[in-house]
Amino acid sequence: NLTLVIFIIAAYLIGSLSFAVIVSRVMGLADPRSYGSNNPGATNVLRSGNKKAAALTLLGDALKGWVAVFIAQQLAPTFGLGATPVFEQTIAAVALAVTIGHMWPIFFSFKGGKGVATAAGILLALNGWLGLATLGIWLFVAKGLKISSLSAIAAAIAAPFLCWWLLPVPVYIAAVIAISALLIVRHKQNIIGLLSGKEGKIGEKA
Ligand code: G3P
Repeated sequence: NLTLVIFIIAAYLIGSLSFAVIVSRVMGLADPRSYGSNNPGATNVLRSGNKKAAALTLLGDALKGWVAVFIAQQLAPTFGLGATPVFEQTIAAVALAVTIGHMWPIFFSFKGGKGVATAAGILLALNGWLGLATLGIWLFVAKGLKISSLSAIAAAIAAPFLCWWLLPVPVYIAAVIAISALLIVRHKQNIIGLLSGKEGKIGEKA
């Protein structure tokens, strides 16, 4: 189905907008791929010491996940993808595509981020309660332990269960499992750091 392919490509392109790199460039800051964890994400931009840049990165990366899913939800019926189960399959594919765009962006030599903010935006668009509950897990762990990566991994593990509970559509659960799995794999260096006790706290300078 050509329309579905166009939806997926559009979502991938939206995901490819790496706001860590874009915001840093616009604000005249160093490229986040050149310091700290080298990750183009809000956590690493915060290591530059510029809170505004980090907040804008978080907002931009979350918003693109939300926008990609929301636009697909709005346009799918107009383009003949409105009937169940095709609608759900389309939205699930778009959710996965925007995540892949963020992680392997075509505009930034396929060196993208770890998908935390973008996944939050996706979940909020899929279902507000699912998004808020997953964010709640992130905040709970972050408040207690102040480690961004560990909070993200905990939220990623919880997300499929929360989806199963709050939005029990099999293809959405499958998409959330896939996004969580990709997100955790992208945190490989962080997991190594966590296991050796070397993972830094949120906001510690690079
Ligand atoms: O947003 C990604 C976060 O979970 C970890 O980022 O820079 O500490 O690898 P970082």
